[in-house]
Amino acid sequence: MGMRYMRNLFRGLTVVSVCVAGGESLHAQSEKDVRVDFIAPDRCLIRINGDGRYLMLPIEECHDDARIEVIVNGRREQIVNARLAINRVDYVVPLEVSRYDREALVLAVETRQSRSDGRSIEDDACWELLALADDFDETNTEKYRLAFHHTPPRGWMNDPNGLVYKDGIWHLYYQYNPYGSQWQNMSWGHSSSTDLVNWKHHGVALEPNALGTVFSGNCAVDTDGSAGFGRDAIVGLYTSAGATQQQSLVWSTDGGDTFSFYPGNPVITLPTEARDPNIFRYGPGGDWVLILAHPLERETLIFTSPDLREWTLRSSFGRGPGAPEGIWECPDLFRLPVDGSDEEKWVVLCNLNPGGPFGGSATQYFVGDFDGRTFTPDRDEDGNVPTKWMDFGKDNYATVSFSDAPDGRRTVIGWMSNWEYASAVPTMQFRGANTLPRDLSLFRAPDGQLYLRSKPSPELTALRGAPTVSHKTATAGRKGLNVPLPTANDGICEIDLTIDPADNEPVTLTLANGAGEKTVMTYDPREATFSLDRTGSGLTGFHRDFPATTVAPTFSDGGRLTLRIFIDRASIEVFGDGGRFVMTNLVFPTEPYDHLTITSPRPARINALTVYPLHPAN
Ligand code: FRU
Repeated sequence: MGMRYMRNLFRGLTVVSVCVAGGESLHAQSEKDVRVDFIAPDRCLIRINGDGRYLMLPIEECHDDARIEVIVNGRREQIVNARLAINRVDYVVPLEVSRYDREALVLAVETRQSRSDGRSIEDDACWELLALADDFDETNTEKYRLAFHHTPPRGWMNDPNGLVYKDGIWHLYYQYNPYGSQWQNMSWGHSSSTDLVNWKHHGVALEPNALGTVFSGNCAVDTDGSAGFGRDAIVGLYTSAGATQQQSLVWSTDGGDTFSFYPGNPVITLPTEARDPNIFRYGPGGDWVLILAHPLERETLIFTSPDLREWTLRSSFGRGPGAPEGIWECPDLFRLPVDGSDEEKWVVLCNLNPGGPFGGSATQYFVGDFDGRTFTPDRDEDGNVPTKWMDFGKDNYATVSFSDAPDGRRTVIGWMSNWEYASAVPTMQFRGANTLPRDLSLFRAPDGQLYLRSKPSPELTALRGAPTVSHKTATAGRKGLNVPLPTANDGICEIDLTIDPADNEPVTLTLANGAGEKTVMTYDPREATFSLDRTGSGLTGFHRDFPATTVAPTFSDGGRLTLRIFIDRASIEVFGDGGRFVMTNLVFPTEPYDHLTITSPRPARINALTVYPLHPAN
């Protein structure tokens, strides 16, 4: 009985009514199978007598974390911080207890809130629904759960980590809290895909240990076994975040499912905060190179090593170049071809928070040369190192690339959110999504500078259904060209078009729904800009920094602009001019946008207008 109710608890936001309906029997079960001894106004001990793989913890998001120490035979095995419910239950999360000998297991819970409230922990709402379950339904049917972007099945997600391709599989690890939908308990979640579109979830790959929680890092394939863990082992470096931030080495010989922790960890310890290591091999048989963020110094440090264990600091890049505010996080360093030439250049990606072009977090980059030890940035005509932005929306952060991608591809994925409001977005049982995968190259713009070109990864076209709209050519004037959008699957779609403005007049594309909500995009050929205004896009009031207009430069040829626009349940990604600009923004319309209207003060030509309904991915 109890088990069935736990399954129901995972059906989106129906949680409270289900709890009420099932309350009594769950309570009865918990009394028998789970014993809670209240030992102080803010403390209790939980003992488990019954069977069940998971102890389901009832969560209420608006409170402080309770600290749960998992103690086995007197030894502390795990610490979980979870916002145990005080007044009502928002959702439940599973704590796997089957891996411990339950006779020897006790969970010591300490809450902060009860003590400060002057009430006893005994009065908290969570105890009534604390129960064991063997299984739970992870189908999350929340309205804003994205349909063709990677999201965690439940819980909080931020940065993509450990992106690596091996044996036909793309591995995506990510900063993960399995015990709630707010930032906490940093671990690496793991998903994998054979096509960058459909993702399988594998749960937690790396958990906190005595050196600290598991912050960001990356993985690569050690083809010749240079680290001593065997040929083709997946090796990874991440930041152990404890009292200080140190770098730890891990490896996997089962294709990335499980990792071993190198006993000599940490492999790099610095006197100041340093994090988010990113490793790659410099040429076949060459040294390993590691680029590490030195966040507060606003620089990156570059180390080399023959074996991933002994690292030598070779150089640094930063302390000057780049946007003037924020701290530097999640760097990446890689080589890229320049379109239309034989030239190759190196790029440092450097994520910055805050200080992005529209507030909060964003990804900046620098183009230059790298000789295996030192990165030398290109300078502009005035001798300055230009600051360049990878994405011109508000919701693209912590972007890093896959190691060992096939066919020389440099494929990146970002976290589709912004530290300003990531914890406040109107979702519940999960929080956080990834951007669509993008393939990078460089192009030379009319100003003589090299910029990143971000194309949607080619795998995405497999999501397309038969077009619902297909116009070779049409006209958009004052009256407006009306384009119905698909209705299936909450209207998820891709809209492709080419705009030929008349007399350099602006062209406006408005996505709208029956609730009067609108996202307004404007191409202004005179200014050579493309903007997106989400101030009236749907739910925006959950955080003051969410309503915004973001603006991208266009490099349009004689005023002509091509666009590929991807619309998911809570996001809009615009790729302009064959990827010469990209703009990623979250939106939360209360109902799907069901039409697009294109207007211009003078009749603009709209060519090759195609609307593809998209299939939801797994
Ligand atoms: C970036 C970041 C990283 C850190 C991680 C912690 O978003 O702050 O620097 O490793 O998130 O979750």
